[in-house]
Amino acid sequence: MSGSAQKKRGFVITVDGPSAAGKGTLARRLATHFGFDFLDTGSLYRGVGLAVLRQGLDPADEKAATAAAKALKPEILSDSAIRAENTSTAASKVAAIPSVRAAILYWQRDFARHAARDSGGAVLDGRDIGTVVCPDADAKLFITASVQARADRRVKELQARGETAIYARVLQDMQERDARDQGRSISPTKPATDALIIDTSDLTADQVFERALAFIASKMKA
Ligand code: DC
Repeated sequence: MSGSAQKKRGFVITVDGPSAAGKGTLARRLATHFGFDFLDTGSLYRGVGLAVLRQGLDPADEKAATAAAKALKPEILSDSAIRAENTSTAASKVAAIPSVRAAILYWQRDFARHAARDSGGAVLDGRDIGTVVCPDADAKLFITASVQARADRRVKELQARGETAIYARVLQDMQERDARDQGRSISPTKPATDALIIDTSDLTADQVFERALAFIASKMKA
């Protein structure tokens, strides 16, 4: 790690992009590589969505979702049910509610501040980290891929977990979720103007990692 990575505020790396584009894999690998703390911000929205579902309420219900966001407990983030497909849909619905985003914003900024200070740096992956949550981040990445490539990867991931997955259904769900995440008025999924955009459709995980590392190294030297 370079000297500037150890500056007092810590070095913050943001990894944004749509689902199944490879941003989680990359973000975790970067955090391990640099010894930085890691936060998967999607798990926070998933935790809120799951909490609302478990209360038998509608994730699009502003009151219920906001109350769940304010009461979010870290334990729910390690519950395997947050990865289920119905939780993904619920997460995308609660994520469109401004008061839910406000509650989660506080949590994310607090993490970035403390993690970056305590371990020299932080990696956060999500949709709006480089644009809204950490606009002053040191290195911003936007990881994307065609919706077909992402649906294909998601099908393989689900099958590896022993779940039945039909490509056409997964593709349709993904297109609907993309439309909600990219089309919402508050914090839509989009690259920051100073982000490096990597299209992973035809790249291996190693190639993506190498490109990201070269970009981060240039920012650490700057
Ligand atoms: O990355 P993911 O699939 O776990 O995210 C779950 C949902 O949360 C997804 O619909 C997008 C939303 N999300 C968001 O709006 N902002 C973030 N920073 C992270 C996730």
